[in-house]
Amino acid sequence: MTAPLLLAWICTAFALELAVGVTVVLVRRARRIALAAVLRPAVPSAAGAVPAWPGWREFRVVQREFEDAAQTQCSFHLVPVDGVALSEFKPGQYLTFALDVAGSTEQAPPRPITRCYSLSDRPHPLHHRITVKRVGAPPLAQSLPPGLASTHLHDKVHEGDVLRVRAPAGRFVIEPDDQATPVLIAGGIGITPLLAMLNWWLAERPGRPIHLYYGLRHSREQAFRSWLEQQAAAHPHFHLTIACSRPDPGEEPGRDFQHLGHIDVELLRRTLPAGRHRFYLCGPPAMLGSVLPALRSWGVAPDDICHEAFGPASGDAPAAVTPSPAAPGAAAMTFEVRFARSGRTVTWDARDASLLAFAERHAVVVDSGCRAGSCGSCETRLIAGQVDYAERPDHEIAPGHCLLCVGTPRSALVLDA
Ligand SMILES: Cc1cc2nc3c(=O)[nH]c(=O)nc-3n(C[C@H](O)[C@H](O)[C@H](O)COP(=O)(O)OP(=O)(O)OC[C@H]3O[C@@H](n4cnc5c(N)ncnc54)[C@H](O)[C@@H]3O)c2cc1C
Ligand code: FES
Repeated sequence: MTAPLLLAWICTAFALELAVGVTVVLVRRARRIALAAVLRPAVPSAAGAVPAWPGWREFRVVQREFEDAAQTQCSFHLVPVDGVALSEFKPGQYLTFALDVAGSTEQAPPRPITRCYSLSDRPHPLHHRITVKRVGAPPLAQSLPPGLASTHLHDKVHEGDVLRVRAPAGRFVIEPDDQATPVLIAGGIGITPLLAMLNWWLAERPGRPIHLYYGLRHSREQAFRSWLEQQAAAHPHFHLTIACSRPDPGEEPGRDFQHLGHIDVELLRRTLPAGRHRFYLCGPPAMLGSVLPALRSWGVAPDDICHEAFGPASGDAPAAVTPSPAAPGAAAMTFEVRFARSGRTVTWDARDASLLAFAERHAVVVDSGCRAGSCGSCETRLIAGQVDYAERPDHEIAPGHCLLCVGTPRSALVLDA
C-alpha cells in the first residue's frame, strides 16, 4: 500500500469515528430534549401551598436497596407511572401512602392503611426516594403483631410494584437563612428528612457550613454510612458527628463514631462554633423530649428550633408524639359527638387524647396516617360544632372540616364519619 493511500485510509477512519461520536452526542441530546418535552414543567410544592397533585397518584418501585448493615432500613425509588415530571418539593417533606396490607387471618380481605414516609433525597424531576425502617413488635410486648406498613413494604413490595401516593406535604422543611447555620440532629430513622435537607444543601449551598449529629445505638444501625462519609470527605463545610450510645464490641471511636453517648446540649456546646444556628431535629420521643427543652434552656430562640416526630400509626400503638391537650377546661367537659355516617352518637368525656382515638374506641372507621396533624388523612367534614387544637396543625385544614387526630371537642359535634 502506498503512503498516500495509507494516509487516505487513516483520514477516513478518523472521519468515521468523529461522525459516530457526533451522532451519539446528538442522539443523547435529542433524547434529553424529547424527555424534557414529555415532562410537563413542575410547579414547586410548598407547605401550605396547593399540593403538587390532587389525591392519589401511582408510582412504580424501580429500585430497592438496604441502607444499613443490619438490613432494617430499605430505600424505595419511585417513578410516577404517568411519566409527568415531579414538582420541586421542599427538603424535609413527606409522602403519604395508601397500602393494602394482609388481613389479620389468611381468609380476611386485605386491609387499607395510610402511612407517611419522608422523602430521603433532594428533589429530582424523575424520581422520589423514601427509606423505611422495619418496625417489630415492642420489646416488652413481643406477642403483638409487627408494624403493618413497614413489614408490608419490606416483605411484599418489590421492584415493578405500583404504590398509591399523595403529594409531598409537611412544614418541617429547611429554610435557608444567611445569618444562621443549619444544625441537623437525627435519631435513628429520623435521619430521612434531614438527609433530604443535607443533600439539597450540599448541592445548592456547597460553600456554606452545615452540621449533622446522627444518634444511634451502634454503628450497624447507621444508614447511608458510606455516602455520609464520602460527603464529609468531599465537603469541608459539612461537619458530621456520629453519636453511639451502646456501640458493639469492636466499634472504635474515631472510626465508627465520634461521640460515645446520646446527643445532648453539652456535645453541641463543645463542638459547634460560636454564632447563630438553626436546629432541625427528627428522632424518637426520648431524644426530642430531652434535646428540645435543653436547647430552649440554652437560650436558642424558638424560631430557630424545628422538629418532627414520626408518630405511631396503629390506633392502639402507644403515642410517640404526646397528643396535645385540649384547651383548658374543654377536655374536662363532656360533649355529645354524633358520627352522622356511622349513625352513632357517643359522649366525649376527655378519656381519649383525640377525636381519632375516640372514634376508633367506638368502632367508627376513620382514615389516618401520621396521627400528628401533618398528613390530612383524618380530615373530616365538621357538620356542626367546634374543634380545638392545642397547637396549629401542620396540615392546612379545608374550610368546614377538622382534623380528628389532633382535635378535641370544644362543643357538641356532628361529624361526617
Ligand atoms: C411525617 C412522618 C414521616 C415519617 N417518615 C418516616 C420515614 O422516613 N421512615 C420510616 O421508617 N418511618 C417514617 N414514619 C413513620 C411511619 O409513618 C410509620 O409510622 C412506621 O413505619 C410504623 O408504621 P407500621 O404500620 O409499620 O407500624 P404500626 O402498625 O403502626 O405499629 C407500630 C408499633 O405498634 C405496635 N403495635 C401493634 N399493635 C399494637 C397494640 N395493639 N398495642 C400496642 N402496640 C401495638 C407494633 O408492633 C409496632 O411496634 C414517618 C411518620 C410521619 C408521621
Ligand atoms: S392522621 Fe395525619 S393529619 Fe390526622
